[in-house]
Amino acid sequence: METTDLVLAIFHHLLAFSLAGVIAAEFVLLRNEITPGTIRRLALIDRHYGLLAVLIILVGVGRVFHGLKGWEFYVYNWVFWTKMAIFAAVGLLSIVPTMRFIAWSRQAKANASYQVPETELAAVRRYIWLEALLFLAIPAFAAAMARGYGL
Ligand code: HEM
Repeated sequence: METTDLVLAIFHHLLAFSLAGVIAAEFVLLRNEITPGTIRRLALIDRHYGLLAVLIILVGVGRVFHGLKGWEFYVYNWVFWTKMAIFAAVGLLSIVPTMRFIAWSRQAKANASYQVPETELAAVRRYIWLEALLFLAIPAFAAAMARGYGL
């Protein structure tokens, strides 16, 4: 149905932009000095990452099965599967920063003068940078797949 397709497409775009916003916010927060307030903010923002990722999977799968083109259009398309693989890779990369944010929050709560070790900070910055870089490729593959590339 056209309305279902439209509503799913709207939510899909809003969720994709929100996810990009979350990655950008983490990227910027990690550039600056890491205070206890920054750690709290990072942990809070990161919780939204998980929620948004689950919602985008649900809406995305909804588009595959209830979109106008029909599921056959996507499941035999390698560009679609490349987009899925990149999304999965971004999700896997996000595990390390999530674990660090949780550990830093715990430490900061137990010790007000806690300083994030420089090596951990550098590693998390690299992970977020790589996530952001890979994430940029997703809309490119999405646009190509929507136009029939990969069939
Ligand atoms: C499990 C995850 C996902 C699934 C199953 C999925 C599935 C889909 C489907 C079925 C379409 C419709 C394409 C068409 O019109 O034929 C679409 C479009 C799109 N997706 Fe996703 N998607 C997922 C995740 C993402 C993510 C994380 C982004 C982040 C940028 C994204 C960005 C887009 C964009 C920009 C379009 C519109 C493409 C266009 O019409 O030019 N998707 N997606």
